[in-house]
This record gives sequence, C-alpha cells and structure tokens, in this order.
Amino acid sequence: EKVVLAYSGGLDTSIIIPWLKETYGYEVIAVTVDLGQGEELAPLEEKALKSGASKIYILDKKREFVEDFIWPTLKAGAIYEGKYLLGTSFARPLIAKCLVEIAEKEGATAVAHGATGKGNDQVRFELSVKALNPELKVIAPWRLWSIRSREEAIDYAAARGIPVPVGKDRPYSMDRNLWHLSHEGADLEDPWNEPKEDLYQIITPPEKAPDKPTYITLDFEKGVPVAVDGERLDPVALVERVNEVAAANGVGIVDMVENRLVGLKSRGVYECPGGTVLYIAHRELEHLTLDRQTMHFKEIVSSKYAELVYDGNWYSPLKKALDAFVDSTQETVTGTVRLKLYKGNCTPAGVRSPYSLYSEELVTFGAGRDYDHKDATGFINLFGLPLKVRAQMEIRTGLR
Ligand code: ARG
Ligand code: SIN
Repeated sequence: EKVVLAYSGGLDTSIIIPWLKETYGYEVIAVTVDLGQGEELAPLEEKALKSGASKIYILDKKREFVEDFIWPTLKAGAIYEGKYLLGTSFARPLIAKCLVEIAEKEGATAVAHGATGKGNDQVRFELSVKALNPELKVIAPWRLWSIRSREEAIDYAAARGIPVPVGKDRPYSMDRNLWHLSHEGADLEDPWNEPKEDLYQIITPPEKAPDKPTYITLDFEKGVPVAVDGERLDPVALVERVNEVAAANGVGIVDMVENRLVGLKSRGVYECPGGTVLYIAHRELEHLTLDRQTMHFKEIVSSKYAELVYDGNWYSPLKKALDAFVDSTQETVTGTVRLKLYKGNCTPAGVRSPYSLYSEELVTFGAGRDYDHKDATGFINLFGLPLKVRAQMEIRTGLR
C-alpha cells in the first residue's frame, strides 16, 4: 500500500518517511508543492529518496496559489482577527488538493502530513482532504509517535542514516510562501518580548528603510490587481514586485496574539509586505466604487470569510456561496490606486475609477443641482422619529 506525504525536506517530514515505512509497511511517495518558499527545491529529490521515499513529485503551483487562493481572499477583504492576512491558512487547502490528486493518480490509500497536534494546520489539511476525497485515510505522525523534541528527532534520523540539516537553524517555527512568512515559538512565546532585530527575513525594519517615500500605483480589474506602476504583470510576478517595493520600505509587519481554532492563543509575527499594500489599495478602490449598503454588508462577509479560511473550511459550501457574493460586488471594483510607502507606513495618495460613485458635484459645499438642502429636514424628521417617540414615553412614564 502507498501513502502520499506532504514533504518539505525539513527534519520533521524527513523522519516521517522511515516512520511510515516501519510503522505501517507503506511505500512512501513524497509531494512538495512550490508556493514560493524561496528555497532551492532541486536537492529535495535526492534527499527524499535518501530518506526512503520511493518517489517525489515537486509541483509548481505558484500561479494557482495566487489566482485561486490569494485573489479570492483579497477580493473578500478577509483578515483574521483584524490583523492576519491568512498566508498559511489558504496555502494548506492547495497543498491538500495536490496530495489528493497524487494519491488518486498513484492509487494510494492514505495521505500524511507533518503538522503537530496543537495547531491549525492539521485541521486545514484534514478538512480539505475530507472534502476532496472522503475515502482517503489521513495519518498525522505528530499525534501518534513518541518523538517529542528536536533532539529526539535528530537521533531518530541519525539512527537511520537520514541527512540532518546542519548549521545553526533558526529557533522559530516558520512557514514561507509567496504571500508571507510566519514566525512562531522561541522568545516570541512571551507576548511581552519585542521581536529581535534579526527576526525579519524579508522586510527591512522601518527604522532602516529609506528616508524618502516611494510611490506605487496599482491597477485593478474587478477587484483583481493587474498592473504595477502602469506595467501589466502576470499574477506571480505582480505579487513578487509589490513584495519587493513594500519590503524595502518596511511595510507589512504584523505582530499578534491570535486565537487558534484548537482553543489556545498563540503569538505570531508575520511578514506580509505585498499583501499589506494590496489589501490597502483594494480597500481604497472599494471606498470609491461600492455603495454604502453593499460596503457595510461586505464587512460582515469579510470577517466570516476570514474565519472560514482560518478554520480550514476552504472547500465548504458557505465559502463557495460567499465567493459568489464577493464576485458580484467586484463587478465595478476597477480602477487605479496610488500609495505612498514610507518607513513602515502605507498611505493612500490618490484613487480613480471609471465606476466611481463619488460625485464632487453632489458633495461640494457650493450650489449643486441634484441635492436640495431643504430635503434634509423631512428626512431627519422621519429618521429621528423613533428616538423622539421613545424620549416622550420615558418622560411620560417617569423612566427618566
Ligand atoms: N498561526 C498561523 C496560522 O495558523 C501560522 C501557522 C504557521 N504554520 C507553521 N507550520 N509554521 O495560519
Ligand atoms: C503546527 O502546529 O504544525 C504549526 C502551527 C499551527 O498549525 O497553527
């Protein structure tokens, strides 16, 4: 029997290979999904085979990641607990989809992952697998084996001749892709500790960013970013470009204590430079193009959407229904946004759209045609009527 393993080449997923073989007698097929980890993936083949895998698939899914996972979440304006741009959360369902596809192709009966029993990632992998192929068995070694520390993992690897990553490893639990880099653990586990100077791997700390602002212009079509500074770019190149400009200006650091789905709070520091800028730009354009009711209702949808994505419900009927709502709202979210990036800040510097609902003619303090000041009298009388009736009742009954 075969099992398909989500493989990163790190110590944990490396020792899962012999563990699956020894514990169940499985043939292990490794799958690595390239979502823009920024690491050399070529050496993984030899490494996986040395660790005992029979085969490895290295799949480049960067474009699908941006088009089918990042863009929908951006259009939805989904932000978890007001801070987290979901960079790991929406990567897991795509990795799970790849595992399921390879399992079906290879005739495997199970899939395995290296997420721990204390986190969100296990939930995201497994809910996605259930939704995509309910027959597949899922194996989560961290919930089964007795290995508890990095030292034990190293001993386990050494005893089996598995190459152990050398050099001074960073003490953090990290997850990186095109959209973000997360840091958890070590000194960050005390929320009173400020992140160390050298924590940041992508973003230039604001105090070291240039003393002059950088302007960036973004074009959107139906809520999707299509060009940077007037140059049309494919989705992956666009995210990379915005990442570079934002990171150089110290933009996109998020430091938060968040509620994990499994019931505990954890502290994470995220580097999400391009994402931060794209969210701000997208929202500026919505302010110009969405009517008041739609905008306010969409805020409710955004927070529900974020919760679904965070909780691993990517392939759920509600998420699909919310996508339909969001896409409908994005029909007119087309236009151009200019932003000023300066030492960690990203501020609007201009917005325009052919679908703008903003009317200078209406709002101006000068005389206009379609708006008569006198109309406001009746409007306020009726709008305020319930308050007036309530106040009269309170006086009559002695409630005040
Ligand atoms: N706390 C974030 C989330 O739940 C990041 C998780 C990072 N995962 C990891 N395996 N390092 O989405
Ligand atoms: C893990 O526990 O595997 C990483 C953290 C998380 O999933 O929240």
